[in-house]
Amino acid sequence: MNNDIERVLYSQDDIKAACQRLGAEITRDYVGKKPLFIGVLKGVIFFMTDLMRELDFLTDIDFIDVSSYHGGTASSGEITLVHDVDTDISGRDVVVVEDILDTGRTLAYLQKRLGERQPKSLKVCTLLDKPEGRTVEAKADYVGFNVPNEFLVGYGLDYNEYYRNLPYVGVLKPKVYGK
Ligand code: PRP
Ligand code: MN
Ligand code: MG
Repeated sequence: MNNDIERVLYSQDDIKAACQRLGAEITRDYVGKKPLFIGVLKGVIFFMTDLMRELDFLTDIDFIDVSSYHGGTASSGEITLVHDVDTDISGRDVVVVEDILDTGRTLAYLQKRLGERQPKSLKVCTLLDKPEGRTVEAKADYVGFNVPNEFLVGYGLDYNEYYRNLPYVGVLKPKVYGK
């Protein structure tokens, strides 16, 4: 285990099982449909690749890049659209894929921005949901794990752009971010 990690919350096996469960659920719900999956960069990279390979149908994938944390442990509240999707989503069934839902600001922003483009439906799948972090209303339709109110890193989640490539989700030692 990395020395900056206090404890592992979800192991590689836990994450794999969650991807299998969510992939099966989504496969069941979208029978006969061809939803577009939009991954929210950068945190989603590992979850997106693992989840997409658990779907039992072929479909298209796109990405949107938004950022709000700008390095720290608390959301700045200001969302920057770094890169938009290439796909025309009007009339499409869309599933937004996130690594974590925390304050809800990123998701609220995306639901507004993408909702304006008249998708046929708009659902959300997140690996991690931190309900205690919420400051604006936001809800996911598919959730891997409900997580405690601690600062998590790994499997895509960063602190200062670091720790993303840890293969598990862990709690960062508070001393690392100066507490
Ligand atoms: C993180 C995370 C989610 C968002 C959740 O992204 O990946 O996208 O914050 O937080 P919220 O519910 O409080 O908005 P971040 O802005 O750090 O960008 P990143 O994915 O590139 O790390
Ligand atoms: Mn993100
Ligand atoms: Mg981040």
